[in-house]
Amino acid sequence: KSLVILITGRGSNMQALLEAKLQVDRITVISNNPHASGLEIARQLGVETLILDHRDFPDRQTFDAALAEKVDTCQPKLIALAGFMRILSDRFVQRYQGRLMNIHPSLLPAFPGLGTHARALQEGIRIHGCTVHFVTLQLDHGPIVIQAAVPVLPGDSEETLAARVLQQEHRIYPQAVRWFMEDRIRLNGNQVEVTGASV
Ligand code: GRF
Repeated sequence: KSLVILITGRGSNMQALLEAKLQVDRITVISNNPHASGLEIARQLGVETLILDHRDFPDRQTFDAALAEKVDTCQPKLIALAGFMRILSDRFVQRYQGRLMNIHPSLLPAFPGLGTHARALQEGIRIHGCTVHFVTLQLDHGPIVIQAAVPVLPGDSEETLAARVLQQEHRIYPQAVRWFMEDRIRLNGNQVEVTGASV
């Protein structure tokens, strides 16, 4: 059972996954950014890392094809996007449908895309959060595996709100990946069924 984690930057969700002591045979971290600080964290934890710089490729299709090739050498049961800041082509998404997961910092379907915390504050919502979902062709819209809610507190800034949400990200992403690795997740259309779940 192998897991591939794709990152671009800080890698705190990756770190949460690596520290979760998942029952897997092999973990590979792939970054499209050679300067991602997450790479250093992975190395320190003794995890195999690969770099595939998207700037070395003429277009998205070519990059995604090379990425798929790297991913396939790992024969992953699951590919977890953890702050991977590149939109993946339809072809890539289709190739790994049902085994491609993402963590998004909002309670989807609210606030897909970037800048979720600023938009949440702007809208004056009182409950915010994060979502682990399967990746489908529509950006930030796939079947939802698990969500966690946090309050928006008076005086919150984008930073304080992001930090509160991030704490929950670090809790629910390992949970979702553990369920998947234990074969406890069944996809039924847009519904995710979890057997024997204890959140
Ligand atoms: C997280 O908030 C994640 O939800 C979003 O990008 C951020 C990445 O942070 N997709 P990190 O690299 O995991 O620390």
